[in-house]
Amino acid sequence: MVKKVGIIGFGSIGKEIIAAAKREEIPNAKIVALFDKEPQVISSAGQDNAELHLFSDFNKFYESPVYSSLDIIIECASKDAVREFSKRIIKSKKDLLVLSVGGFSDQKFLSELQDLSIFNNAKIWIPTGAIAGLDSIRSVRKYLDSLTITTTKHPKSFAGAPYFKNSKIKLDDISKETVLFEGSAITAIELFPANVNVAVSIALAGIGLENTRVKIIADPMISVNKHEILCKGSFGEIHVIVQNIPSPTNPKTSYLASLSAIECLRGLCNENFRIGT
Ligand SMILES: NC(=O)c1ccc[n+]([C@@H]2O[C@H](COP(=O)([O-])OP(=O)(O)OC[C@H]3O[C@@H](n4cnc5c(N)ncnc54)[C@H](O)[C@@H]3O)[C@@H](O)[C@H]2O)c1
Repeated sequence: MVKKVGIIGFGSIGKEIIAAAKREEIPNAKIVALFDKEPQVISSAGQDNAELHLFSDFNKFYESPVYSSLDIIIECASKDAVREFSKRIIKSKKDLLVLSVGGFSDQKFLSELQDLSIFNNAKIWIPTGAIAGLDSIRSVRKYLDSLTITTTKHPKSFAGAPYFKNSKIKLDDISKETVLFEGSAITAIELFPANVNVAVSIALAGIGLENTRVKIIADPMISVNKHEILCKGSFGEIHVIVQNIPSPTNPKTSYLASLSAIECLRGLCNENFRIGT
């Protein structure tokens, strides 16, 4: 059965998902609606996507007939969008696929949302995103002693991060590999909300936000977004290194994140056979 899909956010990930659907790479998924808070983004989306119902106001989207017809909503907008809209989406009994995992760094918010999802029989999905091995971390979580992620990106990927408001380090002055941050995942996502969603993902899969250690490095010589994950425990060790090509339209975002969202949607719409879940 074909599932009707709505997308929140027409940035690098939203555009890739819509493009993949147009290339018919996601069987049984029909993208029918798009909401982005920026009216100019929505009007530019309209130029190539006449078949979509377009909205720049969430209330109008939520109250529209096309919203009622949706099966799945994909959030690929921002941490704030997750906090602002996900409870209403779940209360309306829609399944929700979330890319801005940083929105789940508030434990109370996440557990309220999980309760709502049980009550409303709506599911919440978090794709593996810009990393690999989330399934393995989940499998060994009871046997973990430590979980760390080191993220290295070009300085331009950190533009606009709240971290720089109170830091002696100025983004434009970084001329060599520089450690910006070392600490917990819960602090990392507040200081770098658009860069370390993956740290929140591994923390939720593993030993939680307080116990997951994050190191963030800016390197002007690097051309990839690199994530190095190290898990140790009584099960052994997992060491994952992912070197991602940044999205051409948003250097903060790795192309793999878009591919992972597309693959997750493909799985949800074609559920009879799944590998690595
Ligand atoms: N889970 C992962 O591994 C992973 C990896 C990369 C990016 N991400 C996250 O996915 C999200 C999308 O990434 P992107 O590269 O496409 O971003 P982007 O900046 O290219 O585009 C985001 C779009 O969403 C819109 N938007 C932002 N806040 C909104 C809101 N509150 N309501 C409605 N629209 C809103 C913006 O106007 C923009 O058009 C970001 O939050 C990013 O941090 C997650």
